[in-house]
Amino acid sequence: MGRLDGKVALVTGAARGQGEAEARLFSAEGAAVVLADVREAEGTKVAAEIAESGGNAAFVQLDVTSPDAWKAAVADAVAGFGKLDVLVNNAAIWRGEGGIEDITSENWDDLLNVNAKATLLGMQAAIPEMRRAGGGAIVNVGSTLAMHGAASSAAYSAAKAALVVLTRSAAVQYAAEGIRVNIIHPGSIDTPMLREGTGGKHLDIAARIPLGRLGQPIDIARGALYLASDEASFVTGVQLVIDGGTQA
Ligand SMILES: NC(=O)c1ccc[n+]([C@@H]2O[C@H](COP(=O)([O-])OP(=O)(O)OC[C@H]3O[C@@H](n4cnc5c(N)ncnc54)[C@H](O)[C@@H]3O)[C@@H](O)[C@H]2O)c1
Repeated sequence: MGRLDGKVALVTGAARGQGEAEARLFSAEGAAVVLADVREAEGTKVAAEIAESGGNAAFVQLDVTSPDAWKAAVADAVAGFGKLDVLVNNAAIWRGEGGIEDITSENWDDLLNVNAKATLLGMQAAIPEMRRAGGGAIVNVGSTLAMHGAASSAAYSAAKAALVVLTRSAAVQYAAEGIRVNIIHPGSIDTPMLREGTGGKHLDIAARIPLGRLGQPIDIARGALYLASDEASFVTGVQLVIDGGTQA
């Protein structure tokens, strides 16, 4: 028996990195998975590989900042697989911002739109279908940068911090309908975002992590699997930090 047998999950940012790992793991655990991303070629390839290995998967092009695209993606998921039980709001961008005085209006708007507002849009699109399905699980993806100050990432961090209270508010609001809403805070995870964001110096970070290594996408996917599954049926509104001990 898979831990997500019979569930239908939509994962954003599933063309690479953590979202890809979540889509692959959820499928291996029995879910039908809709992989949503702006990266059509990579996302289609991952969905095809999942299908080739016996899984039930489809790619949908979705820019998470577009309310109309969200409506279409959720409608596609329901048309293809009959319902929607799980949403992982994983897609995000990282961008060099500089210090507070360097943050351009465009960078602030982009980072807040993709990294915070899009999660609101995703929940607004998915919750009516979860209600129809009799409940559901939403896993939002924050960052340990939501939990402390750091130089040169104030807008990214502010967006991720906004997700904390958005998650907790939704958890309280929808608990009576059996819709659970939780957030994962990854530490430094070895993905294209980290490699690109550090200019290839990602391995230097490992020395500062108590458990002595970078996280791998599967480390986050396993946390998302738990929160998405019925094993977490008494868990809502929590922040799950997966960071190798950095925040300990
Ligand atoms: N990698 C890390 O060290 C780290 C640390 C803390 C938090 N996070 C968070 O984890 C999540 C996954 O990050 P990752 O490291 O796998 O990043 P990644 O860049 O490797 O993958 C992110 C995916 O999101 C997609 N995406 C970006 N903008 C989008 C949009 N507007 N619409 C749809 N898809 C879009 C990208 O195309 C990409 O496939 C993000 O929320 C990120 O902020 C990552």
